[in-house]
Amino acid sequence: MTDERTHRSLWTLTTPPRDFPSLPGDLTVDVAIIGGGMAGLTTAWLLKRAGKRVAVLEMHRILSGQTGQTTAHLTELLDTPYATLARDFGDKGARLAASSSRAAIERIASLATELGIDCDFQRVPMYRYAETERELAELEREVAAAREAGLLATFTQDVPLPFPVKGAMRVEDQALFHPRKYLLGLADGIPGDGSYLFENTRVTEVHDGTPCRVVTERGTVTAAAVVEATTTPLNRVFMHTKLYAYRTYAVAGPLEGPLEPGQYYDSQDPYHYIRTQPVDGRTYLIVGGEDHKVGSQEDTDRCFEALERFTLRRFPVKQLTHRWSGQVIEPADGLAYIGRNSASRHVYVATGFSGTGMTFGTLSGMILSDLILGRENPFAALYDATRVKPQAGAKDFIQENAEVAFRWVADRLAKPDGRKLADVAPGEAKVLEVDGKKVAVYREENGTTHAVSPVCTHLGCHVHWNGAERSWDCPCHGARYSPTGKVLNGPAVKDLPTQKLPD
Ligand code: FES
Repeated sequence: MTDERTHRSLWTLTTPPRDFPSLPGDLTVDVAIIGGGMAGLTTAWLLKRAGKRVAVLEMHRILSGQTGQTTAHLTELLDTPYATLARDFGDKGARLAASSSRAAIERIASLATELGIDCDFQRVPMYRYAETERELAELEREVAAAREAGLLATFTQDVPLPFPVKGAMRVEDQALFHPRKYLLGLADGIPGDGSYLFENTRVTEVHDGTPCRVVTERGTVTAAAVVEATTTPLNRVFMHTKLYAYRTYAVAGPLEGPLEPGQYYDSQDPYHYIRTQPVDGRTYLIVGGEDHKVGSQEDTDRCFEALERFTLRRFPVKQLTHRWSGQVIEPADGLAYIGRNSASRHVYVATGFSGTGMTFGTLSGMILSDLILGRENPFAALYDATRVKPQAGAKDFIQENAEVAFRWVADRLAKPDGRKLADVAPGEAKVLEVDGKKVAVYREENGTTHAVSPVCTHLGCHVHWNGAERSWDCPCHGARYSPTGKVLNGPAVKDLPTQKLPD
């Protein structure tokens, strides 16, 4: 596999690049939107259409964050089972979760038609299959709960997979699309008439107020409202106790045998997610999975290898031509947080999308544009970002936050293993002790070393090396940094400071 195809998604490699300018200086608009992915661009497009002047501020390039790394399943089947949603949010809540996901799918379909965007949108069935008796029993319960919530779900033993399974839940009328083709179509409609789309513009501070101020490295944007559509909100503390960050992996390659176009999920934990995609007249298979907590594994190549073995063993694929990874943010109580941020009057957040970022990203645009325009939205109360549900997900909440506290202390006290700078081989990275101070060191293949502080600039946990992606990842809330310390993923907004190594 060539380097280019390693870590750049199928979506990025099958669409042309598109350039937008950086913020040239101070600016005033009606709404500042931080983040150029599905949630940010949809919010911006809907607000502009309603007559607002918007400015999208993207730290890197649009669609280079999690939206560029998705596998783009459009499904009403959420990561949280409907039986759990009905228990924690009531039957009405579970039905609203289903109908809001349906509304998001239909909004993508209608916008693609209205704007004439050829994004390979295709309606397909979804299968979640069971391979063991235990998985089968759980699946049967979930079929009943999903039907109750309004999904067109049935149990079937007729599953069009090239290996035997015990049965599956089949859900009608789910969809597939090419997310980058779709979103480039929306992005093109944003600049003009007092609205802007800026790339390479990093936000460093957000101040709520009348008006709000969004401070960037290139100027300050003043706006009546601010939307943080950044996968995980910037520098928020309380919100991060309700969010848990995971890495997930994807591989793709051309199908060499038949497979009905569709979405397929197994019932393992973590589960594998599978779909088809047409590319230049051929059908490709995309398989995702092998999730783990951010910062918990250094040898992340092993995750890709496991996914490749899974794919080659089960599907008619001989060669995997693409591999990439992304970040999944799990919400504490099982549903995304979309709405006004706690203790803010004019700052809105959209986060905790789990494995359904395309539908929740679109839904965020629908809900947040309505809230900002003062319109009623039937789903806003369900996704209220300020909610605290002590019962729902309480075990995970306690466990995840205890782990953050543990990490914060343990990594500080941990003694590096005594290795010296000379022990760091080309392509390797280590946290070393240099002159009594911990230093995160990466050595490039050509021998050049980069040394940065290992202390995450968000809330001070220590970063860990991610071998396959060559990044320093924070296990506490998922911030990620390049080998030279540049922020790749929030919630951090400041780079890791460079450290001097002895000559
Ligand atoms: Fe919060 Fe690093 S991401 S401490």
